[in-house]
Amino acid sequence: MDLNEAHNADGGRRSAIVTGASRGIGRAVAVQLAADGYDIAFCYRERGEAALETERLVREHGAACYHAPCDVADGPAVEAFVKAAEAELGPTVVLVNSAGIVRDSPLVLMPPAAWNLVIDTNLNGTFNFCRPVVFGMMKRREGVVVNISSVAGVYGNAAQTNYAASKAGVHGLSKSLAKEVARSGIRVNVVAPGFIETDMTAVLSEKLRAEALKIVPMRRFGTAQQVADLVSFLVSERGGYITGQVIQVDGGITL
Ligand SMILES: NC(=O)c1ccc[n+]([C@@H]2O[C@H](COP(=O)([O-])OP(=O)(O)OC[C@H]3O[C@@H](n4cnc5c(N)ncnc54)[C@H](OP(=O)(O)O)[C@@H]3O)[C@@H](O)[C@H]2O)c1
Repeated sequence: MDLNEAHNADGGRRSAIVTGASRGIGRAVAVQLAADGYDIAFCYRERGEAALETERLVREHGAACYHAPCDVADGPAVEAFVKAAEAELGPTVVLVNSAGIVRDSPLVLMPPAAWNLVIDTNLNGTFNFCRPVVFGMMKRREGVVVNISSVAGVYGNAAQTNYAASKAGVHGLSKSLAKEVARSGIRVNVVAPGFIETDMTAVLSEKLRAEALKIVPMRRFGTAQQVADLVSFLVSERGGYITGQVIQVDGGITL
């Protein structure tokens, strides 16, 4: 890649923040961006051991790494995280919001707490990170944001009203923000995965997995690396004329 994207004029690395990077898609994105030349700050909810493994993988690429537990749903905690990350690694030029959860249930049986937790984490968490990070990007007149949503946010999914609503909300947030900040030199896009092999889908029963595969024309789940590769493209100058888009990585599930 063009060194200028991930490096300063003096050759120093520039910084990316990735949320929810102790595991899964977030980890793959953090490691890929480290390979691309960025220093990496990442947060997670509680799995400190897994976070140390992400740090190890990031540092293998010669990147500096800052990480801390930070609940993305907690606005003041996010502000403190961003401040600490930027004090350690410098201004953020790339933000990837990947932290996300599911709490599946038919709507009529869904506990309000399950609705609120999913909205607070997936949608409000994305707002909480975009707010301070994009503020800094606007002052510097450069930056790229990629928000990870889901095909459920595009097409809906039974038993996932909370999750689909949170992800559809991320689409509206991202498209609107893209319009707000385009003139400030900032791009905002969404990557919407289908079924990806991570802990989130590892909990599916054999029966549900078989049913899922039936609706994927490619008849297999994708990998976190395949999602990370698209994020890598979008944040680079190769994706430099793309903004406000929702791009699906789903093996054709939505055809
Ligand atoms: N896997 C799929 O098939 C799939 C499909 C479509 C969309 N997605 C989306 O892709 C994103 C990543 O999913 P994944 O499969 O990689 O999930 P995952 O393997 O379950 O990992 C979730 C990550 O998010 C972190 N996290 C969860 N809640 C958090 C919170 N409140 N504050 C901070 N961090 C939090 C977790 O931290 P801990 O390790 O500390 O728990 C972990 O690092 C999510 O937004 C998900 O909705 C996934």
